[in-house]
Amino acid sequence: MLSAAFVVLIALADFVASALLTDASQLKKDNYDFVIVGAGAAGNALASRLTENPSFSVLVIEAGVTDEGVVGIEVPFLAPTNTPMTAVSWNFTTVPQTSLDNRILTYPRGRVLGGSSSINFLVYTRGSNEEYDRWAELTGDPGWQWSNVEQFYLKSSRLVPPSSGRSTAGMVNPADHGFGPVEVSLPGFPSEIDNRIIDTAKQSNGLFPFSLDLQSGNALGVSLPQNAVGNGTRSSSATAYLRPVLNRSNLDVLIQTTVTRLINTSGAKEKPSFKKVEFAANSTAKRSTVTASKEVILSAGAIGTPQILMLSGVGDEKALKTLGINTLVNLPDVGQNLQDHPIMSNYFFVNSNNTFDNVLRNTSILNADLALWMENHTGLFSDGPANGVAFLRMPSNSSAIKEFGDPTAGPLSAHIELVFADGFAATTTPQPPTGQFLTINSAVVSPTSRGSVTLNSSDPFVFPNIDPNFFATTFDQQVMLQAVKFSRQFVQAQPWAGFVQNRTGPVGDAETDDDIIAASRQAIVTIFHPTSTARMSPVGANFGVVDPDLLLKGADGLRVVDASIFPIIPAAHTVAPTYIVAERAAELIKEAWS
Ligand SMILES: Cc1cc2nc3c(=O)[nH]c(=O)nc-3n(C[C@H](O)[C@H](O)[C@H](O)COP(=O)(O)OP(=O)(O)OC[C@H]3O[C@@H](n4cnc5c(N)ncnc54)[C@H](O)[C@@H]3O)c2cc1C
Ligand SMILES: *[C@@H]1O[C@H](CO)[C@@H](O)[C@H](O)[C@H]1NC(C)=O
Ligand SMILES: *[C@@H]1O[C@H](CO)[C@@H](O)[C@H](O)[C@H]1NC(C)=O
Ligand SMILES: *[C@@H]1O[C@H](CO)[C@@H](O)[C@H](O)[C@H]1NC(C)=O
Ligand SMILES: *[C@@H]1O[C@H](CO)[C@@H](O)[C@H](O)[C@H]1NC(C)=O
Ligand SMILES: *[C@@H]1O[C@H](CO)[C@@H](O)[C@H](O)[C@H]1NC(C)=O
Ligand SMILES: *[C@@H]1O[C@H](CO)[C@@H](O)[C@H](O)[C@H]1NC(C)=O
Ligand SMILES: *[C@@H]1O[C@H](CO)[C@@H](O)[C@H](O)[C@H]1NC(C)=O
Ligand SMILES: *[C@@H]1O[C@H](CO)[C@@H](O)[C@H](O)[C@H]1NC(C)=O
Ligand SMILES: *[C@@H]1O[C@H](CO)[C@@H](O)[C@H](O)[C@H]1NC(C)=O
Ligand SMILES: *[C@@H]1O[C@H](CO)[C@@H](O)[C@H](O)[C@H]1NC(C)=O
Ligand SMILES: *[C@@H]1O[C@H](CO)[C@@H](O)[C@H](O)[C@H]1NC(C)=O
Repeated sequence: MLSAAFVVLIALADFVASALLTDASQLKKDNYDFVIVGAGAAGNALASRLTENPSFSVLVIEAGVTDEGVVGIEVPFLAPTNTPMTAVSWNFTTVPQTSLDNRILTYPRGRVLGGSSSINFLVYTRGSNEEYDRWAELTGDPGWQWSNVEQFYLKSSRLVPPSSGRSTAGMVNPADHGFGPVEVSLPGFPSEIDNRIIDTAKQSNGLFPFSLDLQSGNALGVSLPQNAVGNGTRSSSATAYLRPVLNRSNLDVLIQTTVTRLINTSGAKEKPSFKKVEFAANSTAKRSTVTASKEVILSAGAIGTPQILMLSGVGDEKALKTLGINTLVNLPDVGQNLQDHPIMSNYFFVNSNNTFDNVLRNTSILNADLALWMENHTGLFSDGPANGVAFLRMPSNSSAIKEFGDPTAGPLSAHIELVFADGFAATTTPQPPTGQFLTINSAVVSPTSRGSVTLNSSDPFVFPNIDPNFFATTFDQQVMLQAVKFSRQFVQAQPWAGFVQNRTGPVGDAETDDDIIAASRQAIVTIFHPTSTARMSPVGANFGVVDPDLLLKGADGLRVVDASIFPIIPAAHTVAPTYIVAERAAELIKEAWS
């Protein structure tokens, strides 16, 4: 018996080693049908779907490390501990933000199996149907409209019960959910603010409408958060899509390896073709290459993808020339149109001893919560850090909309998001040593500011210049101002009486509109949703980076599949839309090579 068990263990160890490679020398071949760059949200979904076809061989190359056994990744409540400077993140910073008093912001992305889906804050929202109908309009491809991509939403995720097993009837609509591998659940352990949030919505006469389920197609309203959590543990593209199929013999995954550029493999007088991928373990290691006989697919995310394109000679010819890079495809839009949601914290003192403030201050409480999570994945730590979300529109008489127009996808899509937390969620202000707090984070989810990712160097190991250009438009400033006003108005409702005390923090102290906008410049950070740096545009358009089938314009055989291809940022958290993109891409690719 003992020796049989021993043999099984050895076999398992061997299998793990052969599926997850850590060094290029372990590759058994130098040619695959498909080479996917980046094992993030999109890359893993794609790898999983493509290898369903046993005749396709797939290699995934990922810069980061394995996600397995990283407690900060697995434990939902600890999600914020993975950023910014950790072994599982790209430690990016922005260039000075001119509309934020020249502050430099940290700008982390996941650098680990699962990419940013392994370190994100778990909130799961697909956005309104209107978002996808607008993508179809902007790209001229009806394949992106909701009536067609709904199937991909349903294929990507499914609703599961929370780890506590409590009933969630009346808090979610199971009919709005699918049958895919990513597990989505409501918090299992209600906080003291849950009922206050929901009751405020239900009593607000439609000012803050209650939403049974934000995945219904109408993305407006106040709701409990739906998190990418199953059985009290994070559900990422690594756990949901990749790990269950790692034993497929047609899939290799090479981690701890950075792709440095793509190499032109076309014949003379043909369009450039990028079927050779160059990579290295680090800046001093030897570079190696691998080729794809069918396609190379860039899934390196909204920062990594444009960086690799530019390093490969795809981008704005003038800008590339100054760095000594020979342009193969002149596409000035590469790295442009960076969009993200600015967010900041509104703090209130509360009359309570039950917020999570003491958990963060007192190691013995923290360790007890962690021990409970370790025991059976229950308790505070089995839920994400958010306790409620509200997606709201500007008031219908808003002068900002009269003056600047309405940038949303339609009347069921938000300008503003509020995210509630039962404690002090530290963004720019550290948690005070005493006191109990409510945080309402306010975000602009219909931004009109546009930024960019540009190369700082032709060295692939030098981080690019990242400029989200937050708060650059008067419109975005007016939306944030309204978001602050809504957050204050929200807690004036009866359910908060005796609980919420005075406002505090830099934004809380601001009274006039001008003061609030000035304080915002000091308080805004990223919600971590960069998109659109390799945006889709119609076939034949003189702007954009990829066609609606995600193939790079002006080249052969290179597809981009990740959040960089969004034609415009949705008023939603971005991981669910990224899975939808990856699921549709998998179908397009299977069709192209069937
Ligand atoms: C801290 C944080 C919090 C967030 N919170 C939420 C949230 O609550 N809800 C939500 O919906 N979304 C959230 N997001 C955003 C969401 O996770 C992303 O939109 C989504 O993961 C994007 O998927 P992607 O495939 O485009 O890129 P990613 O998931 O970032 O994957 C890109 C992968 O490519 C790899 N890579 C990059 N360059 C190279 C290279 N040169 N060579 C090899 N590999 C490379 C990266 O290491 C990474 O693994 C958050 C993100 C972060 C960082
Ligand atoms: C980020 O910083 C951490 C801690 O200093 C380090 O371990 C990690 O390697 C860094 N990541 C990158 C991509 O530089
Ligand atoms: C988890 O463990 C705790 C502490 O032992 C116990 O009270 C609780 O009932 C358990 N929950 C589940 C779902 O097993
Ligand atoms: C991989 O593992 C799963 C689950 O253990 C099993 O069902 C499947 O048959 C295995 N596939 C291969 C190719 O070994
Ligand atoms: C791509 O490589 C081929 C073969 O070397 C070459 O003939 C062609 O000119 C290259 N394309 C560009 C745009 O440089
Ligand atoms: C770079 O990678 C090589 C090859 O894997 C390795 O031997 C070397 O130790 C690495 N250097 C650093 C600084 O990590
Ligand atoms: C919080 O605890 C303190 C000390 O035990 C007590 O005096 C106070 O009444 C408690 N506050 C609330 C709201 O329960
Ligand atoms: C931390 O919490 C424990 C358990 O509730 C308590 O006994 C202890 O006094 C607290 N420590 C401090 C410094 O407040
Ligand atoms: C949930 O996690 C606990 C703790 O690891 C485990 O005992 C239990 O079997 C898991 N349940 C399911 C349904 O996976
Ligand atoms: C919009 O309507 C609200 C409520 O009626 C009112 O308080 C506000 O002043 C109006 N704003 C503008 C710009 O007209
Ligand atoms: C590279 O970054 C440094 C520091 O941010 C900046 O001073 C320099 O101008 C940048 N160079 C390019 C070519 O963008
Ligand atoms: C706000 O409330 C806190 C806690 O009750 C109190 O310590 C503080 O003095 C108050 N600040 C103002 C400006 O009222």
